[in-house]
Amino acid sequence: MLSVKNLHVTLNGKQILNGLDLDVTDGESLVVLGCSGSGKSVLLKTILGLVKKQQGTITIDGVDVDKVKRKEAEELRHCIGMLFQGGALFDSLTVWENIAFGLIHGKGMDPGAAQQIAFEKMQQVDLERRAAFLYPASLSGGMLKRVGLARALASQPKMIFFDEPTTGLDPITSNIVNDLIVRSVKCSDLGAITITHDLDSLRQIADRVAFLFEGKIIWTGSVQGMDSTENPYIRQFIDAKTSGPLTNRNGH
Ligand SMILES: Nc1ncnc2c1ncn2[C@@H]1O[C@H](COP(=O)(O)OP(=O)(O)OP(=O)(O)O)[C@@H](O)[C@H]1O
Ligand SMILES: [Mg+2]
Repeated sequence: MLSVKNLHVTLNGKQILNGLDLDVTDGESLVVLGCSGSGKSVLLKTILGLVKKQQGTITIDGVDVDKVKRKEAEELRHCIGMLFQGGALFDSLTVWENIAFGLIHGKGMDPGAAQQIAFEKMQQVDLERRAAFLYPASLSGGMLKRVGLARALASQPKMIFFDEPTTGLDPITSNIVNDLIVRSVKCSDLGAITITHDLDSLRQIADRVAFLFEGKIIWTGSVQGMDSTENPYIRQFIDAKTSGPLTNRNGH
């Protein structure tokens, strides 16, 4: 489904990704862990073509995005839905217009038909119909995540990226969002990459875990493997220890 090889990304002179390799198979739910600022969001944005890479190959559905015309690469990337970390909704558009935006402006769909799909997706993520005509500013954090999720699902993606879907939500709303992710990923056999610091969430949604450190994936395995590993980097992260190899380098 997705294969990333030897990815290098430098931003403002700082090397963020440094020879990163990552594969996601059909229908697999992969969770990427890593410290704040380690480049997790940059990784997803680079795959989506929103951040430029210096080196490396990105293969989506068996096609190397650099070996095809720009339009074809864009179409490949359109088969990936994204729930952005900050929501990234348009403040001046209503909920249904946000959900339908890509359908109308990206795919040229008739607004009436796109509105119908927006309503269906709202139902799928348990958003009430009356919310369709509200603006993002009047929504709660949990509702904003649902709108983001509905928008990510609207384009019928083959794969979805979730960037911190439960951050800032109360434990109950977090669980509802986790359930929605499991439902939308497991039930429709979508491939997914989720970035989260929320280990409860990880336990609910992950088929596999990958750990990002110093620009590379330094460990990957199952949730069970994560719980039992002796790898000092993973142990420090999972046990939330303030000292260890993840922090020692900086003298923390
Ligand atoms: N557009 C950009 N231009 C310059 N630097 C950037 C840009 N986007 C991100 N960075 C830098 O890249 C590094 C990695 O950022 P990124 O947002 O990927 O971290 P993250 O792992 O997602 O962190 P968090 O868990 O806090 O969300 C940071 O040092 C950040 O300042
Ligand atoms: Mg991030």
